[in-house]
Amino acid sequence: MEEKPEKLIVNGKRLDGREPGELRPLKIQAGVLKRADGSAYVELGGNKILAAVYGPREFHPRHLQQPTTATLRCRYNMAPFSVSDERKRPGPSRRSIEISKVTREALEPVVFLEQYPRAVIDVFIEVLQADAGTRTAGITAASVAMADGGIPMRDLVASVAVGKVDGTIVLDLNKYEDQYGEADMPIAMLPRKKEISLMQMDGNFTPEEFRQAIELAILGCEKIYEAQREALEKKYSANLGGE
Ligand code: CDP
Repeated sequence: MEEKPEKLIVNGKRLDGREPGELRPLKIQAGVLKRADGSAYVELGGNKILAAVYGPREFHPRHLQQPTTATLRCRYNMAPFSVSDERKRPGPSRRSIEISKVTREALEPVVFLEQYPRAVIDVFIEVLQADAGTRTAGITAASVAMADGGIPMRDLVASVAVGKVDGTIVLDLNKYEDQYGEADMPIAMLPRKKEISLMQMDGNFTPEEFRQAIELAILGCEKIYEAQREALEKKYSANLGGE
């Protein structure tokens, strides 16, 4: 890993030139995989993430079926080539198991699971290139993939991290900021209800910083939500055009 930069904020700007409240460049595409029922591709700064959704379909083995609702299964995985150093070994790790769990919890509140008793909905998130904020970008991608797959949903889920670097509250931390900053708080939000379905915390905030950070996260999620909807509209209007 490169050395710690002396300062992460210089003249009010971050090392990558962003304002504290600015997202990295964001690109979302819906419906990128033929075989999956729904799919999406997200680029956020240096993150490149694919999400694929299968189902609702019959859940095997049967003893795992839930009699009154569908089961949402999420698998977050980092490709072995997604990070630059030697830290990533192929296969599940403690970290990816934790992220898979919080991803499921972040997405579950929007899905009408009760419409498909006994079924399973599978959500696969593959990180092809990682640059901090992969769990949140993965949730953003997964909710677009679920909508693309026609899964009945109350809303999308938009997700981004906020944090503190050099004492400043910032949106969407990059890898340096994630590694050398003082706090990192991934947030997922149901934008229409303004409900929060994921909140984790690494580091610490004062109560006032926490309030600022939440406000910034809400603004960030609103921007992401717009891009998510645009991606779905684009795919939908292309289909209507007979593509
Ligand atoms: O990606 P996210 O911020 O949600 O999770 P994290 O555990 O805070 O990881 C931050 C970043 O560290 C990742 O996005 C990767 O860029 C990097 N990382 C890595 O280089 N090797 C790993 N095995 C895990 C993470």
